[in-house]
Amino acid sequence: MNRRLLLRSALYSATAATSLVACDQFKKTGLVDTAIAQAPTVQPPAAAAPPLQGQPSLKRRAAAKGLLYGAAAQPQILTAEPDFANSFAQECAILVSENQLKWEALRPTPTQFNFAGGDALLAFAQQHQMLFRGHTLVWHNALPDWFRETLTRANARHFLQEHIATVVGHYAGKVHSWDVVNEAIAPEENRPHGVRHTPWLELLGADYIQLAFQMAHQADPQALLVYNDYGLDYDTVQDASKRTAVLRLLERLKSANVPIHALGIQAHLWGSETRFSPEKLGQFLQQVADLDLQIFITELDVADVELPANVAERDRLVADHYRRYLDIVLAQPAVTAVLTWGLSDRHTWLTSFQPRPDGLPVRPLPLDQQLRRKPAWEAIAAAFDATSVRQLLSI
Ligand code: XIL
Repeated sequence: MNRRLLLRSALYSATAATSLVACDQFKKTGLVDTAIAQAPTVQPPAAAAPPLQGQPSLKRRAAAKGLLYGAAAQPQILTAEPDFANSFAQECAILVSENQLKWEALRPTPTQFNFAGGDALLAFAQQHQMLFRGHTLVWHNALPDWFRETLTRANARHFLQEHIATVVGHYAGKVHSWDVVNEAIAPEENRPHGVRHTPWLELLGADYIQLAFQMAHQADPQALLVYNDYGLDYDTVQDASKRTAVLRLLERLKSANVPIHALGIQAHLWGSETRFSPEKLGQFLQQVADLDLQIFITELDVADVELPANVAERDRLVADHYRRYLDIVLAQPAVTAVLTWGLSDRHTWLTSFQPRPDGLPVRPLPLDQQLRRKPAWEAIAAAFDATSVRQLLSI
């Protein structure tokens, strides 16, 4: 079963007591254990790792390597929770709008635009010297109710043009990048070129993809334009055919001189998945890089829905997964940004989209619900520390 097709379940209401992990437990991660295990036996035991809380932030570690680290956020949370906002500003160099720039949020009616949410996020980013990333101009989900009954083959191009010109124009000069088209490839649907059946495909044919990039470039020639998709990560038949179809799409766009500057790999990972192939994923990343594209890891998280309940064990497995994946993707110098889909387990879409059957709160992100750095944070930090310095590519 494609786990991505699971229907959104009712919001999990946390009745179980939140699992608190004492700070000391952070010291006993797989990484630290390995260091101790490798120390010569005649030496005194390795000194305990300093508490994670005092260490340099993810954004600083990333910046030291010419990388950007950031996360998705929602404005109402940043406003309501100053402690969360502080942690966000401390760890992140780039903020991506989780929901506020989707059609559903931006377009209350066919003639109106509501920029309140997006503007609040941009203001927060600017106030904290963060870059701002737009998500997403064209997607088959999060469309407003009026969309289906209003758009026709005759007016769809006009709506697309107006939407992109208005929204990209509104943020022109202020965004690092836009996810122009999200999730347009679905090889399992067996259409030519593996394109997904979406309202946009129905209305405009497969050309909607390149049209969207052209319109976005016209509205903001400075913004990096990104094709963003999921299911590209593992050594499975499904992910392999998705990698091939996405690569073919990128090749077509580049050879038609479409203004596209990066591939966004969502990287919604599964903590229970073991099928990694550094060779196959690495080869795909190299092929993308050979097209003169940057690669952004755009929505990284590690679902713990199928992992054991024990918090220390679960955190270690999630952290190991982060480290394994990041070591593979960061080996490719064209990977220049890593964003997690949220920062703290306090606010993650997986609470409702991948709730644990045992009802325990999910723990997929770098910080716990109390905003303390977890083994996942340490794994990301270690992967950033271990990677080589990259030169930021210009467009
Ligand atoms: C998710 C948000 O995190 C949720 O809050 C919302 O209810 C549904 O969308 N891929 C994407 C994102 O590109 O836009 C999705 O975000 C997660 C999967």
